[in-house]
Amino acid sequence: MLRLSEVKNIPVKELAKKIFNGEEIFILDVRGTDAFDDWKVEGKNVDVRNQPFSEFKDDLNALEVDVPKDEPFYVICAKGKTSSMAAEKLADAGYDNVYSVEGGMQAFSEHLEPIEIGSLAGGKLYQFVRIGKGCLSYLIESNGEGAIIDANRMINQYDEFLNNTNINIKYVIDTHLHADHISGGKPMADEHDADYYLPPKDASDVKFEYKSIEDGDEIKVGDTTIKAYYSPGHTIGSTSYIVDDQYLMTGDILFIDSIGRPDLAGKAEDWVGDLRETLYSRYKKLSQELLVLPAHYMSIEEMNEDGSVSEKLGQLYKENHGLNIEDEDEFRHAVADNLPPQPNSYEDIRKTNMGQQNPEDEKQREMETGPNRCAIR
Ligand SMILES: [Fe+2]
Repeated sequence: MLRLSEVKNIPVKELAKKIFNGEEIFILDVRGTDAFDDWKVEGKNVDVRNQPFSEFKDDLNALEVDVPKDEPFYVICAKGKTSSMAAEKLADAGYDNVYSVEGGMQAFSEHLEPIEIGSLAGGKLYQFVRIGKGCLSYLIESNGEGAIIDANRMINQYDEFLNNTNINIKYVIDTHLHADHISGGKPMADEHDADYYLPPKDASDVKFEYKSIEDGDEIKVGDTTIKAYYSPGHTIGSTSYIVDDQYLMTGDILFIDSIGRPDLAGKAEDWVGDLRETLYSRYKKLSQELLVLPAHYMSIEEMNEDGSVSEKLGQLYKENHGLNIEDEDEFRHAVADNLPPQPNSYEDIRKTNMGQQNPEDEKQREMETGPNRCAIR
């Protein structure tokens, strides 16, 4: 069959760059409406519209979305196949500026964008923003040594960054046993011959070797110090890390515009007291000047201008609703009554993060499909 138009593709890395640069982006998402409502590309200047391809694949007149005539726009689907067909159809009809997003939402959800947060003794702190899923991870670098906190499973993307910056990873640390995404912590540590640290209270069923990290422990990375600060409530082991008395990695206990949820619905009653204690007492004892760096964000409203996600602890005590519920009973209800649905495949994700199962790469990607659901607003 004669092919009228060559379909132009855009890699997710380039699309993400445009979003982080604040460019105006128009996206036509051709997945089913349920999938779209559950999870979509978001960004400050992103205009994203949905119409399933099945509705206009036989007749382009049935396309109700008003796609731009003269500006570039991007078609996305789940894995990049349907979007390619849709883009071809649009290109055949004379839309010269249409691009299909390579690998679709799945690839987009795996992209990590490194952003420099600030300086450290002898080095720098970077936040890796997984914009397609709302996960945040961190690289602490000082004098060529590095530590990674809450690594995601796409460890090749950290490796690319580490190779370009000549950083040698010594430590890989998780704030808690994750249930919403597969941790890259253990594989990352193995690959770099680094130590992998986990809070022991989260690790009782973990099947591989790890090092315990507990309240008050300190890890030296070059001239920088990471101090462990026990902060249970999301999980029983959840531990925060204070870096150089400037930064506070909160894991999934405290976000910018929301607070953590007890990670397993069955434990909500047990853990809500811990959550209260951490947020209303333990964190209050810390310097309010600490810059809070969470492991997730829920909405792009929480992003700073440069796409990073952070805020001073003192500011969060002024603005974050979850930190301002005086009455304990009311707090208990706010947490118990607002538990969002469990993340997709959370049981399998937990088992994977405990080394109890080791699914193939493709299976791991499927398990992570969908948004993160860690927070309570
Ligand atoms: Fe979590």
